[in-house]
Amino acid sequence: MSDRYAVIGNPVAHSKSPSIHAEFARATGQDIEYGRIEAPLDGFARAVERFRAAGGKGLNVTLPFKQEAFALYRDASDRARVAKAANTLALDRSFADNTDGVGLVRDITGNLGQPLKGKRLLLLGAGGAAQAVVGALLDAGIAQLTIANRTVQRARDLAARFAGSLGCGYDALAGKSFDIVVNATSAGLADESPPLPAGVLGRHTLAYDMVYGRETPFLAAARSAGARSADGLGMLVEQAAESFFVWRGVFPATRPVLEKLRGA
Ligand code: ATR
Repeated sequence: MSDRYAVIGNPVAHSKSPSIHAEFARATGQDIEYGRIEAPLDGFARAVERFRAAGGKGLNVTLPFKQEAFALYRDASDRARVAKAANTLALDRSFADNTDGVGLVRDITGNLGQPLKGKRLLLLGAGGAAQAVVGALLDAGIAQLTIANRTVQRARDLAARFAGSLGCGYDALAGKSFDIVVNATSAGLADESPPLPAGVLGRHTLAYDMVYGRETPFLAAARSAGARSADGLGMLVEQAAESFFVWRGVFPATRPVLEKLRGA
């Protein structure tokens, strides 16, 4: 019987993870089956246990359960501890990991060919999505990390946890410029944009939205400012590849899968 994996979340019906992992398995010759589990909002731990008891080997965890997933096991990777959230569970060894940050870094440096070392980076948002990537961005050697958030105190609190980063509100960004601006807010899901002062996005900026599969107002604003823009589809594929490696010990090629998704 194939080893069983799944993505668990709520909602989860439109997740691309099953098709991404099916491609990885085919390309690497790994015998796995990968499904979807929609857990009730108050039933995450029970759903995980049911899947494990039925022989499930691993889970990808998506919204809104990443913090709960981290709290499930005593054994967690350093990157999950820093994020205080897990997107990857290895059920056969009760281990929690987080591959979101490394997925973002690999997409920017590998797929988009934009080095991070020595760059000035602006991170928008201070919620779970932002918290998951700060550690990996700093590890990638960026020179300066500014975290801006609508609720300013949240940005300050997040920045206070990381040497070399600074938290502020959107107004404080006026007149500043950055090499890379990463939108980790959920604004795009509501068809809104973080209130960036004019001039923050320019022709030399890479504007990256962690949301994928839609033209967010942030990406539209970046394009009209002449900035290079990218959505989060590459991050999705890269975090999946890292999860696949955590489970199977084999790192799948990501480019063919990303090209196929972009073409679809
Ligand atoms: P997630 O896990 O997706 O990060 P979250 O923890 O609820 O979800 O955080 C959402 C983030 O998007 C927050 O940084 C939020 O800003 P606040 O902390 O001020 O609420 C940000 N956000 C959501 N909608 C926004 C909008 N319209 N403009 C600016 N920021 C927004």
